[in-house]
Amino acid sequence: MGYIRSHALEETGYVVLDRHDQAADPREWLDLEYVDWLSSGQTRFAPLASAFGEMECNGFWNHTPPRTDKDGVWVPANTAKAPVLKARAEEPGVNIGRCRVIELQPNTYSNALYNLHQDDNNRLNPDGTGWIVRSFMNLSDDADSYLLLREDRFDPETEVRIPLAAGTQLVVDTQRFWHAVWHQGSEPRYCLITSWESGPELDAYIAAKHGEPHYATAALDPVFVQEAQTEVRRQLAERAATISAKGRAEREGA
Ligand SMILES: [Fe+2]
Repeated sequence: MGYIRSHALEETGYVVLDRHDQAADPREWLDLEYVDWLSSGQTRFAPLASAFGEMECNGFWNHTPPRTDKDGVWVPANTAKAPVLKARAEEPGVNIGRCRVIELQPNTYSNALYNLHQDDNNRLNPDGTGWIVRSFMNLSDDADSYLLLREDRFDPETEVRIPLAAGTQLVVDTQRFWHAVWHQGSEPRYCLITSWESGPELDAYIAAKHGEPHYATAALDPVFVQEAQTEVRRQLAERAATISAKGRAEREGA
């Protein structure tokens, strides 16, 4: 049967929407409660919708009973402080899974490449229902920072770089792309990220906001890109060696 997909995302897997007038909104994200998540210490999340409305960010499949990234439950303590953000997540009228504001500390390009990952939004998603994609709504003004999207994790030629000025908004098939943010600057970056179910409603929303599937990627010095790529390969090899040495030590009872 297959999943229901948004036609707007068929060609390139992402669309950049009309810029939102972010300056007209209150800075609600500064009032939210954040929870530590990944161990890197670079990111925290403020959940607006979670599996059961608790102040946590775990994948819905890690709960009991496990389920896919749909039917998120609003987290009262945070949504009370962020009615505008909640309304923006609800605007397309589609099913919402996880919805949260991410806080990302500044990093480097090679650090972002190391963090490239594909999301797992569609784990346990029933066949015949809508494919889950994600919206990114940049809240802070980070025109020198980029959302990096790669079809091939290790091929810089496939990289699309979207600058993240305040109000920049995208819909991305994050299970298709390897993605991460390169955040330059001295302050944290804030972005509203929401899991949305694909279908005709999402397509109508994307069309109304003139979704652009061929955004001009920002230029970057090829030598700089190559050096970062080499550094990441070195780091990944180092990590693999550490993991295998640890496994060997455990097998040998060390
Ligand atoms: Fe992701």
